[in-house]
Amino acid sequence: MNLKQMAGIEAAKYVTDGMIVGLGTGSTAKFMVDEIGRRVKEEGLSIIGVTTSKETERQAQALGIPLKSIDEVPYVDLTIDGADEISADFQGIKGGGAALLFEKVVATYSKKCIWIVDESKLVNKLGKFPLPVEVIPYGSQQLVQLFEEKGFAPVLRKTSAGEILVTDGGHYIIDLHLKEINDPIALGDYLDHLVGVVEHGLFLHIVSTVIVGGETGPRTINVPE
Ligand code: 5RP
Repeated sequence: MNLKQMAGIEAAKYVTDGMIVGLGTGSTAKFMVDEIGRRVKEEGLSIIGVTTSKETERQAQALGIPLKSIDEVPYVDLTIDGADEISADFQGIKGGGAALLFEKVVATYSKKCIWIVDESKLVNKLGKFPLPVEVIPYGSQQLVQLFEEKGFAPVLRKTSAGEILVTDGGHYIIDLHLKEINDPIALGDYLDHLVGVVEHGLFLHIVSTVIVGGETGPRTINVPE
């Protein structure tokens, strides 16, 4: 079993009957959604899923997981999602799969968030992974220029076909190649106040449990409050 699959299957054990479950996006989350789908089909697990992307919605629908949108539920009991980097103090970068906006909305209304990763995602400090910033198309070149001036090494994300990538929310993504983020809170605050920025991939004080797939089995870390 690969390490992402191991983490995904372990996390699916936290899902119990009657829960409203946020279903994350990405290659690790895909294994978790598969496992929840299996439990719905084979064990009669009864849940409502809230997806974080069109991609996960298609997968969950195909598996027969009952779904509602975030606006049709009062809250989410538990969200399980992947992450691109997790620092030693459990702050995260997400959005490598371009779903950061919906992922952050669902996480914000969740009572508990579990991140599922392999060992490679655990870092001391955030920043080696480019930080995704979701922006509206109008004025996006001005933001690229501003980030350039700041020394953030911005790159407007393109698809493999070379087209500008458009997110599920109809926005663009500018990836900031920062190498090291010394103060994620201050950076998040700065980005939160920029006109045209819809959301950024700094997920701060959001995760409650991290499940790490490793060579010797899954490791569960409960984040201190
Ligand atoms: C998508 C995400 C993903 O959770 C993140 O990119 C991790 O993906 P993967 O599990 O494929 O490594 O934030 O927007």
